[in-house]
Amino acid sequence: MEEESSSRGCYGGKAWRPVKTWASATVFVLFTVVLLSGVFISWIDIPTFTFPGASIFKTTANESSAQPSLKKTESPKTEFPPESPKTEFPPEPAKKEFPINCPNATTKQTCPLDYPLKHETKNIDAEVCPEYFRWIHEDLRPWKAAGITREMLEGIKSTAHFRIVVHKGKVYLDKFRPAYQTREEFTFWGIAQLARLYPGKLPDLELMFQCEDRPAIKKEDYKGSKGTKIPPLFHYCGHHTAFDIPFPDWSFWGWPEVNIKPWESTLSAIEEKAQMISWNDREPYAYWKGNPTTSRGRGELLKCNDSKEIDWKARVYNQDWGREMAEGFKHSNLEDQCTHRYNIYIEGIAWSVSQKYVLACDAMTLRVKPDYYDIYSRGLIPMDHYWPIRPHKMCRDIKYAVEWGDEHPAQAQAIGENGQRYVAESAKMKYVYDYMFHLLSEYAKLLKFETKVPPGAVEMCSEAMACPFRGSIRKFMDDSLVMSPSDVPPCSLPPPYKPDELKALQERKEKVTRGVEMKEARYWRDFKRGTSSWWSRIFHH
Ligand SMILES: *[C@@H]1O[C@H](CO)[C@@H](O)[C@H](O)[C@H]1NC(C)=O
Ligand SMILES: *[C@@H]1O[C@H](CO)[C@@H](O)[C@H](O)[C@H]1NC(C)=O
Ligand SMILES: *[C@@H]1O[C@H](CO)[C@@H](O)[C@H](O)[C@H]1NC(C)=O
Repeated sequence: MEEESSSRGCYGGKAWRPVKTWASATVFVLFTVVLLSGVFISWIDIPTFTFPGASIFKTTANESSAQPSLKKTESPKTEFPPESPKTEFPPEPAKKEFPINCPNATTKQTCPLDYPLKHETKNIDAEVCPEYFRWIHEDLRPWKAAGITREMLEGIKSTAHFRIVVHKGKVYLDKFRPAYQTREEFTFWGIAQLARLYPGKLPDLELMFQCEDRPAIKKEDYKGSKGTKIPPLFHYCGHHTAFDIPFPDWSFWGWPEVNIKPWESTLSAIEEKAQMISWNDREPYAYWKGNPTTSRGRGELLKCNDSKEIDWKARVYNQDWGREMAEGFKHSNLEDQCTHRYNIYIEGIAWSVSQKYVLACDAMTLRVKPDYYDIYSRGLIPMDHYWPIRPHKMCRDIKYAVEWGDEHPAQAQAIGENGQRYVAESAKMKYVYDYMFHLLSEYAKLLKFETKVPPGAVEMCSEAMACPFRGSIRKFMDDSLVMSPSDVPPCSLPPPYKPDELKALQERKEKVTRGVEMKEARYWRDFKRGTSSWWSRIFHH
């Protein structure tokens, strides 16, 4: 599958060419992929949602004043008058915004000169970043002692899809090969938005990025003396057997091929809809919808569906992407996801972008133990944010979880709400950018060579990226555009875990999980004897 994703790229140009031909080639080939390739359908591994109308793009006045301008805000019609010295908290002056201006038939595409290259943030004590930021130190630990040389970097050129260069505050792209769908475009886009949010704050750096599903740098290939040659490769997820450095995936800015809008819009739409159905009105089953062919576990999950002998309490649905696409994503909508009390999360080929949408529903998430991790998922705690499910005992675990939840609705709801709060707070866009900022800053400290802009690299401003596009690609870019520099500094990076802290965290998670498993073992013992009061009630229903 990995090979497939790299060979079925979307367009052929090697270097980034921000011109019309590039965009139309992309659109054309996307189309071809959609029409001709079964891969597209079997590849998409996640549930999607369609959202009605524009209501989800609204911004509240509260948000825009309390936070950096991460999205389009309405500019006030009138300028605020000069401050009177008496006011203790003077109103802020209207903030200058920098929408993107695309060229017309007579002008040429250029990167604008008016976006500030520097911006003073408020001199305040920054809040501490969420706990999961501490993994940044762990992810970079292999290079801590000896640093990163140019040889290590150049050595993975053939594995990477592109190189990002930050030089004197500007971001450049050195593209090697195409990636699947618009992953690359939305990854560059995210980095360009980071540069707009914190202009002048990113250090000079060069990094290699790979857009496949699974990590590429296997630990077993770098044993012994090779341990000094580990290539640093940025990637969307990590694995305990790999050295890849996790970075936010493209879906935070949008996934147009399956109609997933930028995270900020998606989150508020899900929250809004989830609020409308109370716990009691939700179906008392564990829901999952997606493509079951992307992993063995998903295939197994189908067996937990309603069956004649025993109701495992799962309701799983096959996502027919061909039909969804033909019908404009009418049936892959949000309401289907938030109508059940329990939602299942299970990985696809590797980590799945669906995890945040599943958690956002505020149903209790039944999380099938994942192998891969993305940036925020290492902060999830079993029974705080989700109910742990064992891959090899999936159906039994799901049935027990659902019945436990129906017996303990307050506790089950609390787990659901906590999970929702976690993604809504700890994984909000401000923190996604702050994570990128700290990861890149810490990474840059390890570079043992002078960064330079390679020949053929192109400056990646938002205009050069967005202007050639139309349709949903362009809309998602417009909707996730950072309109002005942040007045608030990035959160402050918490220190590395001490070895005993890391051990304690691991043990805490394991202890909670074992507790659940023990309770469940008792349940199944009683179930077999036919003495369980729950069971007899269900049975005589
Ligand atoms: C601001 O937030 C408060 C409470 O969170 C709410 O009552 C108020 O309506 C909000 N104001 C606006 C303009 O959204
Ligand atoms: C194209 O844009 C330039 C600069 O923004 C403007 O001066 C010119 O009138 C525009 N031309 C057309 C045909 O819209
Ligand atoms: C699972 O069961 C439901 C009915 O309970 C059915 O509608 C659905 O199609 C089944 N899913 C699969 C993948 O067979």
